Amino acid sequence: MSTAEKTLILLKPDAVRRGLIGEILSRYEGKGLTVVAMKMVQGATELADAHYAEHVEKDFYPPLREFITSGPLVAAVLAGESVVEVVRSMNGATNAIEAAPGTIRGDLAASKRENLVHGSDSAASAEREIGIWFPELNT
Ligand code: RTP
Ligand code: MG
Repeated sequence: MSTAEKTLILLKPDAVRRGLIGEILSRYEGKGLTVVAMKMVQGATELADAHYAEHVEKDFYPPLREFITSGPLVAAVLAGESVVEVVRSMNGATNAIEAAPGTIRGDLAASKRENLVHGSDSAASAEREIGIWFPELNT
């Protein structure tokens, strides 16, 4: 992989069910970001628990876990300048009901939980999450 900054994205099961993989990837690619790794994952319960380690004790985790393992999801690594910040900005607010128009969540979702996408929230999170979903990349 290149030396550009990297981030980990998930196209959550709602994105796959609704046929939005192409639309969402197209937005990231249109922005100039590069897909450097990508896979579809099914039944990712243990990966989800590791990914959401900061949330596993929270009240909203059981329904979040149910949702995130409710069907196949797509995990990908994107690269580009300031990609962590760019992707968070493009994704929009966590609660899609409040997310600004023009963002992925603001345009395509209307739920606090089923909000289509995940993007790492820092370079350190990106490194940790890439290691969870793409251990074979050895980043
Ligand atoms: P993500 O990690 O998925 O990119 O989302 P985020 O940083 O914007 O939000 P975070 O606080 O990390 O929450 C992780 C995911 O949990 C679900 N959620 N449900 N109160 C709730 O019901 C609630 N709060 C959060 C969302 O799917 C959120 O993306
Ligand atoms: Mg988060």
